[in-house]
Amino acid sequence: MTKKKQMGIVPDNYSVLITEDEIQQRLEELGKKITNDFKGTNPILIGVLNGGFIFLADLIRYIDIDLEIDFIRISSYGNQRESTGHVKVLKPLSADISGRHVIVVEDIVDSGLSVQFLDNMMSAFSPAQLKFATLLHKPSKTITDITLDYVGFEIEDKFVVGYGLDDQQNKRNLRDIFVIHV
Ligand code: IMP
Ligand code: MG
Repeated sequence: MTKKKQMGIVPDNYSVLITEDEIQQRLEELGKKITNDFKGTNPILIGVLNGGFIFLADLIRYIDIDLEIDFIRISSYGNQRESTGHVKVLKPLSADISGRHVIVVEDIVDSGLSVQFLDNMMSAFSPAQLKFATLLHKPSKTITDITLDYVGFEIEDKFVVGYGLDDQQNKRNLRDIFVIHV
């Protein structure tokens, strides 16, 4: 892939953690795995807004079976960099996931409280199966007993932005994933 021009403003205290090419290579692997695991089903992938929208858009184009998408929006962070621990649904699901093969698509799992909340909430609709995909996971921060079925990259406890992930709602348009040095 030819290197595209970086988009957006990259401050001096940012450094690249994962490049656009590394992300795409990993998504191809995850897409193949999901294709094999879900062959013969018509899964619905649920993007968790806002951060998961680019990951979902790219991931589905590596999945070689029919699939549907939907979105849910939850909030646990406000504009802070630490979790408040309170998860709220800001935009509910549109689709009926009862009896469906569901993959929830998150940008990043930190404490795991968001995934735990989504697991409880969606299980109540009795899907045929409920799996979780996340582009990034910070295992050292995760305090909940959750199962992540598809993980792009495990990272250290650093605040990251770009490729859909925000810093106070900005920087989602950066093509690579960056660490902010404080
Ligand atoms: P958790 O509920 O603590 O696992 O937090 C998950 C959510 O917090 C993610 O979906 C992100 O929206 C946000 N988040 C956690 N860590 C970061 C980060 O390093 N950069 C940007 N957003 C983050
Ligand atoms: Mg999120």
